[in-house]
Amino acid sequence: MAAGPAAAKTGLMTDTRNTQYLFKTGSDLGLQHMNFLAEIFDRHTFGVLDPIAVRAGQRCLDLGAGGGSVTRRLADQVGPTGEVVAIDIDTTHLTDGPPIAVHRHDINDGLSGPIAGPYDLIHARLTLTHLPRRDAIFTELVDALAPGGWIVIGDASGRPLSVLSARSEQDVAVWKRIQHLSHEVVSPAGGIDFGWAHRIDDAMAGAGLTNVHGIEVSETVNGGSPGALLHAALNLQAREPLLAAGAEPRELERYQELTRDPEFRTWFYQFICLRGRKAPA
Ligand SMILES: C[S@@+](CC[C@H](N)C(=O)[O-])C[C@H]1O[C@@H](n2cnc3c(N)ncnc32)[C@H](O)[C@@H]1O
Repeated sequence: MAAGPAAAKTGLMTDTRNTQYLFKTGSDLGLQHMNFLAEIFDRHTFGVLDPIAVRAGQRCLDLGAGGGSVTRRLADQVGPTGEVVAIDIDTTHLTDGPPIAVHRHDINDGLSGPIAGPYDLIHARLTLTHLPRRDAIFTELVDALAPGGWIVIGDASGRPLSVLSARSEQDVAVWKRIQHLSHEVVSPAGGIDFGWAHRIDDAMAGAGLTNVHGIEVSETVNGGSPGALLHAALNLQAREPLLAAGAEPRELERYQELTRDPEFRTWFYQFICLRGRKAPA
């Protein structure tokens, strides 16, 4: 995808392989980001993943493995006779060693060589939503499943993150403006499609998967909680594109203060996570 008008407006650069990930996984803020994702979403992910009952000796793929919390869960399940292939464009926070095989790899380059299928289980959380080629990549992932293999996809929806309580109307206005710039300007320019989460079920059904089942969860968060602090880490990483999109430095500073203010409460991202199974041979 060529850099379009939205990319020019936010200062984001794209390359010819559609790789335009907005965040800096390998940075200190990126590590905070990954740790908060694990703290907030692992219990929901494991609720969808664990009934699949991954067995000793099986082979799994964790795409966009990030901080590796799901990779490690799968490694415990496959044990020393299995393998968990962990792929990320930035593997700074992943630890290689049996049964985990870490590969620094852009999924836009496909799955071949040591990372080729078949896999008994493929997991991707909060990754496809970032990838403009998500539909084609989803098809490649399904193709890489072994007969009877499972795929688990989790992503955040675009449900508005409404304010529930704040100290002032000005604080509500700052929150709404920064969320608007983040979701309507910076995120689309960074390749993010919040609509994808609502299409996962259709994509699984369209691919002929069976036993499709999912969850939608949404929680309230208050300043100082992991959800609010995740917002802080995301917005600090995206500071330059937010400024380029028109955010004022004082608005970004107040936004950071709100994420630490226990009086400030909002709805948090709705998380949609589904599993589906390829027909056995
Ligand atoms: C929002 S994070 C989610 C991390 C992890 N799955 C989790 O939920 O805790 C998205 C991850 O996808 C990785 N990523 C982004 N673009 C990628 C690409 N083209 N190929 C492989 N990984 C990518 C990022 O580096 C990051 O670790």
